[in-house]
Amino acid sequence: MKVLLTRRIPSSVLAKLQAGCDVDLYEGPGGMPGDELRRRISDKDGLISVLTDRVTPELLDAAPKLRIVSNIAVGYENVDLPAAKARGVIVTNTPDVLTEAVAEFTWALMLAAARRVAEGDRLIRRHGWTGWALDFMLGTELRGKQLGIIGAGRIGRAVAAKAPAFGMSVVVGPRKAIDQLLVTSDVISVHVPGGAETRHLIGRKTFARMKRTAIFVNTSRGSVVDEDALAWALKERLIAAAALDVYEREPSVREELLTMENVVLAPHLGSATRETRTAMIDLAVTNVLAIAAGRPPVTPV
Ligand code: DGY
Repeated sequence: MKVLLTRRIPSSVLAKLQAGCDVDLYEGPGGMPGDELRRRISDKDGLISVLTDRVTPELLDAAPKLRIVSNIAVGYENVDLPAAKARGVIVTNTPDVLTEAVAEFTWALMLAAARRVAEGDRLIRRHGWTGWALDFMLGTELRGKQLGIIGAGRIGRAVAAKAPAFGMSVVVGPRKAIDQLLVTSDVISVHVPGGAETRHLIGRKTFARMKRTAIFVNTSRGSVVDEDALAWALKERLIAAAALDVYEREPSVREELLTMENVVLAPHLGSATRETRTAMIDLAVTNVLAIAAGRPPVTPV
């Protein structure tokens, strides 16, 4: 089986893939450019992709032999699923192995926003710290507060499971039943998949229902939040702060958000630990090897 790999992966996992497949590896900086992907996929049976590789109907048409798209991510909105299904191409993702890493990172963002960690860091770096004071940079304590989780999937539940350790109560709402949670929660964290169904799930009306003291956190997908509405809510002080790992037009981040001290910004790092990224890549490779061996994939979507 001929497999196209759009970026470098750890050598131990690459060796495993090479033992079962003929691998065409892109070794250039960043990821494989779209036109090169289209050219090099033409004779491939498998593609190992990441969320910045767009698997469109056109790309699938350029790969008549393709049998599997193995996406190294739990999300797969970069892959046109109906188009893949129509062409008999199996699509796989990497669930479970990243759940804890994303949940941990969500807590890192919550704490950073509540305790003004990034703001304090910036202050020190510009030599703006003049010394300790009783009323200096006071934040909000999480203990005794309510965490509202939008999305009752694996990651949402893993974030919720850590709430008692911080003394928080927690309400988990499936995305169609969040009205009450919006009004009563002190921290609101979104954990739904991206894609057309959840596009702008969080918009002006949603922000308007939140407490003025609320901290809003998004480690899911940028498309889930209407960033215009978020900037408006922050400017109008309808919510107190936000912490974001994902954006509508990555890697570009809305200018207004860059200027707000009460917004913590991370560059899509939710699953970015050595352990988790290796596990994600390993799972993606395992899925390809399963197809090569004539077995069903482990994690089809
Ligand atoms: C995922 O797996 O969908 C993550 O966003 C990748 O970091």
